[in-house]
Amino acid sequence: MLTHLDVRKRFAQFWETHGHKEVPPIPLVPQNDPTTLFTGSGMQQLVPNLLGEPHPLGTRLYNVQRCIRAQDIDEVGDNRHVTFFEMMGNWSLGDYFKKEQIDWLTTFLTQKLGLNSTRLYATIFKGYTHVPQDTEAEAIWKEQFNNLLTKDFYVIGVKEVTVNTSPESGIKESDRIFYYDVSKNWWSRAGAPDTMPMGEVGGPSSEVFVDFDPQGALGIHAQSRFAQSPCHPNCDCGRFIEIGNSVFMEYVKAEDGFFQPLPKTNVDFGGGLERILMAIQQKQDVFETDLFWPIVQTISSDYSHHDDERKKHTRIIADHMRTVTHLAADGIIPGPKEQGYLMRTLIRRAVRASHNLHMDVTQLDEAVRATQKIYAPVYEHVGAPRIPEIVMDEIRKYQNTLISGRKIIASFIKKKSHITGADVFNLYQSIGVPEGEVADIARSLGATVDMIGFEEAKRAHASSSKAGSEQKFKGGLADQSEQVVKYHTATHLLHQALGDVLGASVRQEGSNITGERLRFDFYCAHKPTPEELVQVANVINQKINDALAVRQIILPKEEAQRIGAKSFFKEKYPDMVKVFMIGASDETLQMLSSKPIITPRAPFAYSIEFCGGPHVSNTKDIGKLDLYKFEKIGTDLYRIYGK
Ligand code: ALA
Repeated sequence: MLTHLDVRKRFAQFWETHGHKEVPPIPLVPQNDPTTLFTGSGMQQLVPNLLGEPHPLGTRLYNVQRCIRAQDIDEVGDNRHVTFFEMMGNWSLGDYFKKEQIDWLTTFLTQKLGLNSTRLYATIFKGYTHVPQDTEAEAIWKEQFNNLLTKDFYVIGVKEVTVNTSPESGIKESDRIFYYDVSKNWWSRAGAPDTMPMGEVGGPSSEVFVDFDPQGALGIHAQSRFAQSPCHPNCDCGRFIEIGNSVFMEYVKAEDGFFQPLPKTNVDFGGGLERILMAIQQKQDVFETDLFWPIVQTISSDYSHHDDERKKHTRIIADHMRTVTHLAADGIIPGPKEQGYLMRTLIRRAVRASHNLHMDVTQLDEAVRATQKIYAPVYEHVGAPRIPEIVMDEIRKYQNTLISGRKIIASFIKKKSHITGADVFNLYQSIGVPEGEVADIARSLGATVDMIGFEEAKRAHASSSKAGSEQKFKGGLADQSEQVVKYHTATHLLHQALGDVLGASVRQEGSNITGERLRFDFYCAHKPTPEELVQVANVINQKINDALAVRQIILPKEEAQRIGAKSFFKEKYPDMVKVFMIGASDETLQMLSSKPIITPRAPFAYSIEFCGGPHVSNTKDIGKLDLYKFEKIGTDLYRIYGK
């Protein structure tokens, strides 16, 4: 059986053979990107390149990117939904297109991973108003399936050669390609064609599905709540599972609202490692693959014999502990806001699931350690010894919250023996005890609880906060072109000015930008004085007034380091890097691009920094920067805010 390590190796080898370079993956929390809380796909760092900017590593790229999709949290508990996953991605930036992508992808899946081709299905875009059906992808897939289904199969394990023709499923041998509308087979950053702003790029996508119940023998569809309608790849019964998505970025939305073909088309592919493993390791359950099994074992040694309810709780614990381990590894700590809030929520849900299993919560420590053991060979920092303590500390705090919550609920029901939906919701919001736990405690103390009313209160709250987060996303996209870009450049000035004023010990620890402010975390061997901070602000505003040019240049990594470019030690950089220079002359830029510098003598610019951009072209565009807040956040660690 191929392990996850084998699959990673084969994936890298395959795309390298086809001329691709590995883009180093980014952290789970993208730096300086206020549009999202978490990295949710491999393409996130490549947005400027998909919009046309050349990438230092060329036009063929791949990587495996750790991702978090918090929106799937309520689905966790079935056999396939997870909050953390790894996306295997490959990209063509104006290079190859549909033919190569579909051909290589099926070759990789069937020949390199041994996926049984009789279980593969493809979906394509069926068209929408004036955007045509993707007949090009359709023709390529038809040819693929003709070859795949007649050739010998490359099968590891059981060789299945019969394809499903049973009337029960409604799927015939030739029905390998399914057509869907914009809700399933269209991709852009802003969603469907109608919601895309002018100038946004997007295109049809083509997904690959695996049939986990050929011939319907396991009755997955027949026994599901979808049994009344015919099964198809996007049916949610669980028979078909999507393992990858190729986005063919070929249109840009023009001023008149119509779509124009892009001069250079891109491919953006993403496939879930966990689900691919599920298919090739022939498991019906992602929690039985080697990326989960050792974690599951720490929760229950008898998982396979559990009923659905017990499996659900076990999966919630395994998934959530795995996600929080990665979050802790990337520097997140549980808290009341943003990333920290997701971490806190995941830990609390896992504790609750442990209670449901009558499991001692100290066992969760083992789930964290099992996660570390699986991932440390791939991501060294996930093995950090401090991680179990971060998680267990939050668990202990939560246990205390539960004890005091129990007292509050007890005094509440002394006055009122029936708890309404709104009561549950308010208790849940105010004492930090999850709804189910509130209800359980209340019932155990003899009260009756209106859970239906609670669901209504929760839905009403969710739809108002969803409207808020959609707003944030839209605001974010607009910000990207204006204020955020200014703060980006201002952050480079701040980084340099801190070094100038506070000395060489200054080192960047983190950075975060929103449309409202910039925030910069740094290490400094001494505590900066108020006078020094005033001086930092003066230096920055002087550089803004000096109207310095901001220029980018692509250099080999070593060369960039030699000329003193600042880098962020938590980030991995590729061999060729983009460097932004503030205040470099045209001659300097020309010299740097034409010959390698062996011993740099003069400083080449005011600020030189590894960065993907984007930036303003002149510091005067920043306006003025106020440093309005300063705080100590750890030993020799400081946080400063500017706007
Ligand atoms: N960016 C595409 C996705 O997330 C591949 O599905």
